[in-house]
This record gives sequence, structure tokens and C-alpha cells, in this order.
Amino acid sequence: MKTIIEPFKIKVVEPIRMTTREEREAILEKAGYNLFLVHADDVLIDLLTDSGTSAMSAEQWAGVMRGDEAYACSKSFYRFRDTVTDIFGFKHVIPTHQGRAAERILFSLTCKKGDVIPNNTHFDTTRANIEFTGAEALDIPIPEARKPEVNHPFKGNMDTKALRELIDRVGAERIPLALITITNNSGGGQPVSVANIREIKEILAPHGIPLYVDACRFAENAYFIQQREEGYADKSVKEIAQEVFSYADGCTMSAKKDALVNIGGFLCTNNDLLAEQERDLLILTEGFPTYGGLAGRDLEAIAQGLEEVLEQDYLEYRIASTRYLGEHITAGGVPIMEPPGGHAIYIDAKAMLPHIPAEQFPAQALAVELYREAGIRAVEIGSLMFGKTDSETGEFQASAMELVRLAIPRRVYTQSHVDYLVEAILEVNKRRESIKGLELTYEAPFLRHFTAKLKPR
Ligand SMILES: Cc1ncc(COP(=O)(O)O)c(C=O)c1O
Repeated sequence: MKTIIEPFKIKVVEPIRMTTREEREAILEKAGYNLFLVHADDVLIDLLTDSGTSAMSAEQWAGVMRGDEAYACSKSFYRFRDTVTDIFGFKHVIPTHQGRAAERILFSLTCKKGDVIPNNTHFDTTRANIEFTGAEALDIPIPEARKPEVNHPFKGNMDTKALRELIDRVGAERIPLALITITNNSGGGQPVSVANIREIKEILAPHGIPLYVDACRFAENAYFIQQREEGYADKSVKEIAQEVFSYADGCTMSAKKDALVNIGGFLCTNNDLLAEQERDLLILTEGFPTYGGLAGRDLEAIAQGLEEVLEQDYLEYRIASTRYLGEHITAGGVPIMEPPGGHAIYIDAKAMLPHIPAEQFPAQALAVELYREAGIRAVEIGSLMFGKTDSETGEFQASAMELVRLAIPRRVYTQSHVDYLVEAILEVNKRRESIKGLELTYEAPFLRHFTAKLKPR
């Protein structure tokens, strides 16, 4: 069969409240044209994030009922630990309430002022937690990663030449660890190859620099390797994931992505001394080392989700669904970051709406138009999020790119929802020349995109 179907039946449904265009117009006005301020109940298809938005399976909900809530050494912890050990293979497994808690513990024990931590691209919480210790978070993706229109099978790879140069330039003693983010979130989840990870390890090992994986979307990454990298077509995604982690010394994980749960995370390491220090810190801020900020029921749901996320049929459907959206809108003339990645499609609003200057927020104008047209909530990653007005000169500094991110929650939407997205985006594209920019009426002193208010020009 050529048709790829959702490999699940639906047991529980959550109604979508339909709205009219007139209602959405009023909602937009009330929310100051900021989609973060629109009530979720007023959204038809919510693509704000793929984090913590997965639908859990019947077996995960059964696990929730089985959850052992003993304070220490609960049965659920051992199921969680054994599942993580089986896939990830690290000596120590430490549960945390989400990914950034794992990051904070790891970096506060390993990084200090003057250190430099390389990564393909740091996610913003990773960068913030590193910078909080006084260390520098350095992005060294391959050059292709910075060009939206360029197609590359492993656009998430790290630039290994830049890694060698960094070690020569600053010295290994200033690099307490290196990271690799799989898939690379920036650009919509572009994969990293086994060859790249192996080479990174070969570069780091003689200097004694440990390699940590930011593993949020490890299963999607393993599927891309199986489909694209020579020598991996006959391996299972689980075997590929195990090989990837065999080159690393530890990982941080947000279970809100590829563990198919709504909350949770963990930190792993092979270093006994570091694990001891991490557990001490965990007790201070997260909880006892066998629950780390989570309930027993959450640990059960994570263990079950980690098994389900490695199913071939699930990953085939997941990646095909994201690719379908990307390919159908590009076929209709909408420019996107190429190629479609694992968890999101990014529309290039600068290319689609060249008549709207950066200071009138073209990507926000497009996100607003998608909501107005069809109740779709996407997120602006452009000059509203990253642009600044220089306080001395009054000059506007635009973001390098003006993107609208459509992040796809796992197992939540069906093929007809994706067809609806395609239709809405193409409809908006047809009348793109009539879309107008926006201007700010209120902005907070930092992270303004969350609370900003705007109005049409
Ligand atoms: C690559 C990456 N690392 C870390 C995190 C942080 O995880 P959390 O939101 O669970 O704190 C995220 C979340 O989106 C992510 O995408």
C-alpha cells in the first residue's frame, strides 16, 4: 500500500471548538494580535509546540494507574530506569521534572566562567543554563544549516573542522564538555548522522572532553539515519539509537518530546563522581533520586512512551506526516526551510512577504493571517522574538530570519487536519500581497514576544 495511515485507533477524543472568521477577528483584536494571548479553546489546530503536547496511548494511561507512588525506590522508578538503560546505555539515570532541570544540574556542576561549550545549535534553555554559569554557549553547525533553501540529508550535523579549531584556539581545559542536539531543533528538527557523531567523539576523546547528547528527539533522529545513512537501512531504530548513545558519555532529555508524555525528563552519565554530585543537587531542588520531581505515574508513562516511540510504523507515519505538509505547501509555491525536518515546518516569511519590512514583523503578520483564515496557531521566530531597537541610536536591528514555525504535536492530528493546514496556508499564499504588517503598541523589557500587543498597520 502506498498510503501511510495513522498507526492507531482513537479511543478518547477532545472536541475542537469551531469558530467563524468574524469571531477570530474579534479574538485577535482582544489578544493584541499576539497568539500567545489567544485562549487554547479558541484555536482549531494548535501548532505552537511539539513539547508536552503528545497524545498518550491506552498503555501509557494504564501505566498511570499502575504508578507506584512510594517516596523512595518505587517499582515505577525501576521500570523507568531499566527502560532508559536499555535504550540509552548510560550507567546512571537521574529523573528530572523536565529537560531544563537536567541541563541546570549538569551545567552548574561542570561549567564556569571562561569555559566554552560547543553544540551543533544550542536550544534556548540550554544556552541560557550554560550562560547562567558564566560559560559561553557556542553554535557550530555545518555551513548548510544556516541556508534555508539548501537541501542536505544531515543538515543538523556539527562542523567538525570548527570543533578542531575551537580546541586548538581555546585549549581543551576550557571545554568541560561538548554537546550534540538530536535532532537539531533549530530549522525544524534536522538530523545528525552517525558518521558525524563518531567523528566528534574521535576529536574529543584524545583531549578527555566528554560528549553529551541533547536527546529530546532521539527516535526521530534514528529514523532519519535508517532512511538516509549508508549501512543503516537494515538496522532497527532502537539499534541505531543504541549505537548513537554508545559514542556519548551522557545525555540530557526532555521526555516531553520523544517519550510521548506531557511532562518529564532525565539526565544520564557514565561518570560516577559526577552522578553523585548530580544526585546531591537533585535532592536539593527536584526530589529524591528515584523520582526527581516526577510522580511514579509519570515515570511509568515515560517508560511506556520510550518503547512506543521506537516503533517503526509510528516513526514512518510521524515523519511522513511532517514531510507531507512541507512538500504540499512548497508545491503550491510557499517557501520553507528545506528539507522538511522531523517535528516542524518553518515557513520563510521574508521570502513569502517581501513587501513587509522587518520592523513591521512579516512572520508575525503571517502567523496572525493563518489564525484569521483557519484558526491555526503557529509561532513567530523573527524580529518580534529577536529584533531590537537600539536605545541610543533608535535604529531597528532585525532578526537574521523571519520564520513561522508549525510544530506538530505527536499522535494528535490526523491526515485530514494536515490537509486542512495545507489548504489554509495555500489560500493565504494566494492573497499574500494584500497582507499588511503590524506595529507594536506594548512591549515588555525582555522576552517581549510572550506578552507584546500589536495592531495592524
Ligand atoms: C533541543 C531541546 N533541548 C532542550 C529542551 C528543553 O526541554 P524542556 O522544555 O522539557 O525543559 C527543548 C524543549 O523544547 C529542546 O527542544
